[in-house]
Amino acid sequence: MGLKDKLTELKRNALEEINDAKDLKKINDIRVNLLGKKGPITEVLRGMRDLPKEERPNVGSFANKVRDELSNAISERKERIEIIKTSKRLEEEKLDVTLPGVPVKIGQPHIIMQVIDQIEKLFLGMGYQVVDGPEVEEDHYNFEMMNLPKDHPARDMQDTFYITDKFLMRTQTSPVQARTMEKHDFSKGSLKMISPGKVYRRDTDDATHSHQFHQIEGLVIDKSITMADLKGTLQLIARTVFGKEREIRLRPSYFPFTEPSVEVDVSCFKCGGDGCSVCKQTGWIEVLGAGMVHPNVLKMSGIDADIYGGFAFGLGPDRFAMLKYGVDDIREFYLNDMRFLKQFSQRG
Ligand code: DAH
Repeated sequence: MGLKDKLTELKRNALEEINDAKDLKKINDIRVNLLGKKGPITEVLRGMRDLPKEERPNVGSFANKVRDELSNAISERKERIEIIKTSKRLEEEKLDVTLPGVPVKIGQPHIIMQVIDQIEKLFLGMGYQVVDGPEVEEDHYNFEMMNLPKDHPARDMQDTFYITDKFLMRTQTSPVQARTMEKHDFSKGSLKMISPGKVYRRDTDDATHSHQFHQIEGLVIDKSITMADLKGTLQLIARTVFGKEREIRLRPSYFPFTEPSVEVDVSCFKCGGDGCSVCKQTGWIEVLGAGMVHPNVLKMSGIDADIYGGFAFGLGPDRFAMLKYGVDDIREFYLNDMRFLKQFSQRG
């Protein structure tokens, strides 16, 4: 084999080896072996001594060309390896700023609070004030001022947790009526208020009873309030909570603090009044109590019952929520089971 053929073969093998090199150490080794003093090219050049003089320049320049080509190929490969190395590093160090964040869990108002909020909004829109009252209440306000003197039999239905003889856990939001009437300055206009809050009863908890539940009290006092005003207001509540097609009906009832007193039914929102299991085939569902404020109640709060009169109502947001959402056990509201509560997400 002539020297040129040897060089050509050497070049082919070397190029293959160069292109296979995967790291800088390997490519450096190749360079040292190939182009170094003891390398095959140097050896070929050394062999030129045995060639006839006229062939030497030809073979010499061919050998130089091969050396330059291999040297270039080595440099290029080296560069390539460096690029790959850098991009691999970049790849590893990549920070993807588009990664979604860890979602923050956002709470939501309890279903009972949602019902209260809805009713508060309705009444705030009609110029009512929203008043708070104490849950640890005086017997005086909870009963006496509501026309339920010490030995009144109607106290039986509202036994409660007594703190002392004087203080008890309020059984109703009605005492807020007396507290508000006492303070109201009628020279500045009528009294229109609602008062939502927690109430307590000495009841054994079951599907329909809880020792703790909620009420919203309503009270309007002015000079010429009639039962028509009461009915219109109650109808508005029924339509706001249970749907705008709802009708209401009033049935005579008894509360010590109202006269006359009524029990309020709303036309069944499930069957529209035809009769179904929700309304127990009657077409109507009892939702709240109301009436015209008893003159005794007005007088005890220092209001002239010959000039002023008004209406009052008391409703249970727990009962409203049970009816509206088909919850058949009141205890669900107080167990704090997220699987139950999450069903009433306002965010859909
Ligand atoms: N306080 C009553 C109860 O707890 C509910 C009630 C009925 C309130 C009629 C009222 C009313 O203001 O007029 O059973």
